[in-house]
Amino acid sequence: MSEKAGDARLDMETLVSLAKRRGFVFQSSEIYGGLGGFWDYGPLGVELKNNIKRSWWKAAVQERDDVVGLDASIIMNPRVWVASGHVDTFADPMVDCKECKKRFRADDLEGYVAAGAQGQAAEAAAMRCPECGGELTPPRMFNLMFRTFVGPVEDQASTAYLRPETAQGIFANFDNVLTSTRRKLPFGIAQIGKAFRNEITPGNFIFRDREFEQMEIEYFVKPGTDEEWHQHWVEQRRNWYRGLGIQEENLRVRRLDKDDLAHYAKDTYEVEYLFPMGWSELEGIANRTDFDLRRHAEFSGRQLTYYDEESGEHIVPYVIEPSAGVDRCLLAVLFDGYREETVRGEKRVLLRLHPSLAPIKVAVLPLSRQESLAPTARKVWELLRPHWMTQYDDSQSIGRRYRRQDEVGTPHCVTIDFDTLKDDAVTIRERDTMDQVRVPITGLVEALRERLGGV
Ligand code: GAP
Repeated sequence: MSEKAGDARLDMETLVSLAKRRGFVFQSSEIYGGLGGFWDYGPLGVELKNNIKRSWWKAAVQERDDVVGLDASIIMNPRVWVASGHVDTFADPMVDCKECKKRFRADDLEGYVAAGAQGQAAEAAAMRCPECGGELTPPRMFNLMFRTFVGPVEDQASTAYLRPETAQGIFANFDNVLTSTRRKLPFGIAQIGKAFRNEITPGNFIFRDREFEQMEIEYFVKPGTDEEWHQHWVEQRRNWYRGLGIQEENLRVRRLDKDDLAHYAKDTYEVEYLFPMGWSELEGIANRTDFDLRRHAEFSGRQLTYYDEESGEHIVPYVIEPSAGVDRCLLAVLFDGYREETVRGEKRVLLRLHPSLAPIKVAVLPLSRQESLAPTARKVWELLRPHWMTQYDDSQSIGRRYRRQDEVGTPHCVTIDFDTLKDDAVTIRERDTMDQVRVPITGLVEALRERLGGV
């Protein structure tokens, strides 16, 4: 039962169906039955995803004078993951139902009690299978890193991992970036890239995947100033989501309890979105202290310090890490933008995407398929293509074409009609208000630029 957002919430099934039907997200290798936790982004999905990443990069790197970018490799020397703690601790407790054979993450189940630093031997007796009520196996720890081999021999010595977070590529390059850019503290290194986790229970569409994309900043600060910078980044990141047009009532920031902190964190805030399954994490903003640089210095034998001219000492910076998921942000943007309205007795579905995120900025629609309109309509299309992602659509009635564009969030449609052949003017129709205004073709790019707010 999908309803206007803000009233009852849109359900996941409706969104998954829209995402597939309109080419946002497809199940990976669907013709072979798919593969759990893997998704493909279609023609509109890749545009939306790129726009999210572009917006993040603009806010994180381009508009700041203290953050630089990086693109590190996905597979790194496996000792990176020993130093980071992932080989030892990046694991979830897993249980199987002895009756129905389903598999679960034990810490998602009622009655779970974690035990020991490695989390092994938890109390299984109190837990029952949430599907059939059957008896469960004792929990066993399952490392989430995907393993592979580098080179032709498949043995222990050639074992490597697909990175489970992009962050470690940044820590491993701390000294390279510091030396090559001559940065002073505080400064940050930002990266967008794929990460891989062999999640026990992927689910909620693209919310929990086995292959996903992260947008991470490691922001290096002087110890003692870390708490202040932590607050700075929490505000910055909250404002970024607001800037994407996400509704305030669906967004919150929550400080984690001490018991829920990762092994490297002194303090963490999460930015959460109100999805149909409840408040869920979009981004973690952690104070990682000097944990990672100290560990990498210890394991690599390299000095990973910063020479502080003021004190004349070498110091190990503290790190504030805003770490966001592209896929989760995309899911939130789709949920948040979805509206259903009744217009003249008919249902209208629209995605109220921020213009900067909309996959198609302008659709060019000749009023009819009559041959006399096509040359002018195509000329208008050519005029707009260098400026924005556009789409040309001349099939079916103009009303249906407007609806198709509304449903994928296109902010403006430009209609070429028979009067255009006489007055060289076209109609711009706006998505949310459905207002129409006539403008000369010579001023069309300028008029659209103004309406799109410079995107
Ligand atoms: N470097 C810190 C780190 O990776 P995390 O909380 O494990 O922290 C950061 O992940 C963000 O990455 C999450 O807030 C989420 O947006 C995204 N993320 C993590 N696991 C994911 C998964 N299995 N599927 C999709 N996104 C995921």
